[in-house]
Amino acid sequence: MCGIVGYVGPRRADEILLEGLRRLEYRGYDSAGLATLTPDGQFHVAKSVGRINALAEKIAAAPLAGTTGIGHTRWATHGAPTEANAHPHFGVARDSVAGSPAVVAWSPDHATGATAGLQKVRGQETLAQPAALRDASISRSEMPTLALAHNGVIENYLPLKEKLLAEGYQFSSSTDTEVIAHLIVRSLAKMEARRSEFPADEPYAVVLAAVTHALGKLRGTYGLVILFREHPELIVAARQGSPLVVGVGQGEHFVASDASPLAGRTGKIVYLADHQIALVTADSLEVRHREHGRIEHLVHDLAASETDVDLGGYPHYMLKEIFEQPEAIENALRGRLNDQHATAVFGGLNLTPQQLRGASRILLTACGTSWHAALVGEYLIEELARIPVEVEYASELRYRNPPLEPGTLLFAITQSGETADTLAALREIKRKGHPTLALCNVVGSTIAQEADGGVYLHAGPEIGVASTKAYASQVFTLAMLALYFGRLRHLSFEAGQRIIAQLRQLPDRLRQTLDVHAAVRRIAAKYCHATNFLYLGRQYNFPTALEGALKLKEISYIHAEGYPAAEMKHGPIALVDEHTPSVFIMPQGSVYDKVMSNLEEIKARGGPVIAIAPEGDRAVARLADDVIYVPRVEEFLSPLVNIIPLQLLAYHIAILRGCDVDRPRNLAKSVTVE
Ligand code: AGP
Repeated sequence: MCGIVGYVGPRRADEILLEGLRRLEYRGYDSAGLATLTPDGQFHVAKSVGRINALAEKIAAAPLAGTTGIGHTRWATHGAPTEANAHPHFGVARDSVAGSPAVVAWSPDHATGATAGLQKVRGQETLAQPAALRDASISRSEMPTLALAHNGVIENYLPLKEKLLAEGYQFSSSTDTEVIAHLIVRSLAKMEARRSEFPADEPYAVVLAAVTHALGKLRGTYGLVILFREHPELIVAARQGSPLVVGVGQGEHFVASDASPLAGRTGKIVYLADHQIALVTADSLEVRHREHGRIEHLVHDLAASETDVDLGGYPHYMLKEIFEQPEAIENALRGRLNDQHATAVFGGLNLTPQQLRGASRILLTACGTSWHAALVGEYLIEELARIPVEVEYASELRYRNPPLEPGTLLFAITQSGETADTLAALREIKRKGHPTLALCNVVGSTIAQEADGGVYLHAGPEIGVASTKAYASQVFTLAMLALYFGRLRHLSFEAGQRIIAQLRQLPDRLRQTLDVHAAVRRIAAKYCHATNFLYLGRQYNFPTALEGALKLKEISYIHAEGYPAAEMKHGPIALVDEHTPSVFIMPQGSVYDKVMSNLEEIKARGGPVIAIAPEGDRAVARLADDVIYVPRVEEFLSPLVNIIPLQLLAYHIAILRGCDVDRPRNLAKSVTVE
């Protein structure tokens, strides 16, 4: 779950790469690095631990020359977040230094702050200082052959590493990635020996053959950008399982893990697919399939506008995205409600009403917050469409092998469209011959490409790691799908009209709900020192309790549990004491009285209670310590108003505890590895 970026063109690469990494930082932010390559075949490198700012400071102190370069922001999978493990990693020809098998790992010159150059390490002895790099004594052939940055996981890296070590290759990191670097160098030597067999008019034929050969030995996932010393005008990009796009500019090209670094740089984007390798220079882009050779690539218009990725005056993306929920819902419903037939309309399902009418069971699969949206979807579809629904964690479904009868329809729910477990679950159910649909926010993402059809959420780019507006769009879209399936079955025209009216009112209801901001900030100050929280709700709002607890956990690092309120007396109530706040979600509706008695059970044991209740509910105010009033909506839509105070509560408690709400520790926005 790293972010990789590349640039080749007329402009200074280091500035463009740094800005690109800033926009990709939500994908991983424990260490980072850049490498540029100048026409004289010199690599210029900077690496740092921590956020991109640390790298930017190094580069401000010692800019990197060159108009071709690659960059990486890391979410460590193999090897701790250190400078040695930060990308890019270097591939060095095994016999670059005659007579000393114990050659050589190239790594940035830590002493001088990395940028000016590389230092050559022979065994334990540090040989070269930066200045020496330009010293005639270090010949061009002793420079690294290549530099590469990687997003993904190589599952068979250990046996490959042992083989390379046995052949005399030296490693300066404990990453799986460095194996790829040396593997390509090894293949390059093999292909160089056969250079005469390659078409003389194809300058990159040998490099391409070497990359293809080396990649053939890997098992796992990768998005790769590679610089070759012999070709300072070239970036080679390769994709297998991890997302990679190319931005097509005027006399320049960009490579990135997703579209965000391209916004404002170019309006043209190419989505690379698995097994594809791209040869990218300033003026050309050639895409090859690893087995089938050259292929035509499709250039799409880039959806993301410049403004979508700036903070818009908010202190954090998370707060901005919480306040963008009304617009996100308006975007999700635009053009999708049909009054004439009192139903919803979806243009991208790619299944006929007959096929959809024939669905006898709906399987919803997802991870994290998207899984909570799926749980609300279960209530919505079962109530409005009377179709049995199963909700499965994607990481479990991909291996559980459940018996699925014909007529089972899968929905994969995902903000990023790149979550590895959700992608694998979709592929597994598709392999079994069931139709697969995606609810996805990122246009052109892998899950969107591989599903048979689907619905885009149109929530706009979600940058904050803690998902908020995408969750709201997922739940709202599931409500529209429930209406659609319901109207394909027994739901009457009048019932459809009533539901449409409530769906249309929701953006305004959410705007009203955002008025609780100040009240929630006050309540957050009261409870920000608690070390445990309980979130309790029933029916539609049991998932709201789970999502509220997850928001608090992931950004404030406070332990929190969500439960169906009635489950408390079967064990968790033992956790209740005067230091453990319980957050009750209690909309007017079918289970209000039940939730009220659950609340009294907590109060009876001295537990402080924060209640989320509809305006005008005086009864709860007599019992709860704090009440956050939200607008009244129908119960089936109440998860969308009730989640807002919980998002704001988590946000303000995290702020008060000095946490980095947009870049919480140990997390990343899209989980592209298993
Ligand atoms: C939610 O705040 C988290 N970022 C995480 O749980 C997320 O929902 C999960 O990783 C699924 O991501 P997806 O929706 O992009 O597939």
